[in-house]
Order: sequence, then structure tokens, then C-alpha cells
Amino acid sequence: MYLKKYYFEEEKFKLINNDTFYVLKKLEEKSFDMIFADPPYFLSDNGITCRCGKMVSVNKGKWDKYLSVEDKHRFNRRWIHECYKVLKDNGTIWISRNITQYIFNRNGIRRRRI
Ligand SMILES: C[S@@+](CC[C@H](N)C(=O)[O-])C[C@H]1O[C@@H](n2cnc3c(N)ncnc32)[C@H](O)[C@@H]1O
Repeated sequence: MYLKKYYFEEEKFKLINNDTFYVLKKLEEKSFDMIFADPPYFLSDNGITCRCGKMVSVNKGKWDKYLSVEDKHRFNRRWIHECYKVLKDNGTIWISRNITQYIFNRNGIRRRRI
């Protein structure tokens, strides 16, 4: 059970702002109909990009720091595994992902199962 204070709460809505690896372990198993996740893409590799005509850093923060393909998969497997525990048997999980990252990644690895 999640015992910490909610970030925001009203009758039928609760918002938690915390580490997913902590929170998911505190939630009741098989209790969610749907999970939507927009996890880090780990693209912050000190590169640069063009935004509104200006050269800017691609770095977003520590949470997005570039990881190897294997480390990305390890991270994704960990949280998806926790999601499956709290998802109902007929539940659905939606994951926001840049699929090209998997088809054309830097090491030439094509699609990988996570
Ligand atoms: C791709 S961004 C999602 C942005 C979001 N869709 C939005 O519009 O604000 C990934 C988010 O995951 C969060 N994040 C990274 N690691 C996390 C963790 N272990 N637990 C919870 N959130 C995490 C980051 O802070 C970041 O806001």
C-alpha cells in the first residue's frame, strides 16, 4: 500500500510524484486496467541540436543520460516487470517510445525484445 502523501488528490484521482521503482512495489498487485508510460529515452549524450534556429544542447537531465543499448534494455525490463505485477490479467500497457531507436540504433542492432 502506498503510504506517502499524494502529490495531488481528489475523490477519484490520485497523483503520485516519486521513483517508479519504489512506487510500483507499493501498489496492489493486479489492480490496474491501464498503464501509460513515457519513460526516458536516454538520448542526453552531450550532443547538440537546432531549436527555433538556435544551437542547443540535447541534454535533458541526469535521468536521461545516455546509456548503452544493454543498459537501456535492463532499465526498461525492470520497470516493465514491475508494471506487469500491478496490471490486471486483461489490463493494457501503453509505452511511448521512439521505435527508430530500436530499428536503427547506433550499434546497428535491429529490433530487440524487451
Ligand atoms: C520522456 S520524459 C516524459 C515527459 C512527460 N511525458 C512530460 O510531458 O512531462 C521521462 C520522464 O521520466 C521521469 N523519470 C525518470 N526516471 C524515473 C523514475 N525512476 N521514476 C519516476 N520517474 C522517472 C523523468 O523525470 C522524466 O520526466
